Amino acid sequence: MSYETILFERRGAVALITLNRPKALNALCALLFDELNEVVDEVEADDELAVIVITGNDKAFAAGADIQEMKDQTYQGMLSDNGLTKNCDRISLCRKPVIAAVAGYALGGGCELAMMCDFIIAADNARFGQPEITIGTVPGIGGSQRLTGLVGKAKAMDMCLTGRMMDAEEAERTGLVSRVEPLASYLEVALDAAQQIAGYSMPVVAILKQLVNSSLESSLQLGLINERQQFKATFALDDQKEGMVAFSEKRKPMFTHR
Ligand code: CAA
Repeated sequence: MSYETILFERRGAVALITLNRPKALNALCALLFDELNEVVDEVEADDELAVIVITGNDKAFAAGADIQEMKDQTYQGMLSDNGLTKNCDRISLCRKPVIAAVAGYALGGGCELAMMCDFIIAADNARFGQPEITIGTVPGIGGSQRLTGLVGKAKAMDMCLTGRMMDAEEAERTGLVSRVEPLASYLEVALDAAQQIAGYSMPVVAILKQLVNSSLESSLQLGLINERQQFKATFALDDQKEGMVAFSEKRKPMFTHR
């Protein structure tokens, strides 16, 4: 399958998706979201693929929603066809783990897309921000909500109200990104992390992803009950037996994803 705005590569069990509109700093146009969604559907349906890595290029992960495409949109138009926001949440609904490997600008929709992923590995030149206020609008695909959850109210207010950018060091310190790596190696580090996850039991990975996500949306008591149930449920898996027997026999487990 070939696409106009993204590149799709298989690296073993890892699907590497590269945002590919370099002339527009990977601005997120409607076609890009359509193509991204198509690829995510394909990856989810493919048992050979376990983890997704989404990246951009050295200068930009994505500098936001495509302002050229949006600028003449009307309120009525946004209400009737949902504008750019109609199909931009697919990544956050993906059952398989998704890692964002971010170098350069991740602004507006770019920062929002990165935050829809399960975690972000950043290059040391990464810059994050929600600069919508500087162009007379507000974040539209999760920025004010997910950023606040990740970095807290003070930082989120500062970022959203001033429109300033956070560098990679500040992003790691405040919990927006999980690791900062040199520009020369950040993508390899993200791909290695993806390969490592792909080597585990896929049903266990799926349960774990859901548990961590649900912690953001449920009370601690409900979350703990859910975790306890899921912990017990893993004992119905062949992979739990294999993992623990392999440990006892001092060998590497051979997971069958059952
Ligand atoms: N949409 C469309 N085109 C964009 C773009 C965007 N978000 N960001 C950059 N580009 C284009 C520029 O127009 C320029 O195109 P031309 O060469 O044809 O003129 C090209 O990419 C290179 O950009 P610059 O010349 O501006 O590069 P720079 O290095 O001087 O500046 C930048 C880089 C600071 C990131 C600057 O491009 C910028 O501020 N971009 C806009 C950032 C922004 O406001 N993002 C939020 C968008 S709104 C949004 O995302 C809403 C939402 O929540 C869904």
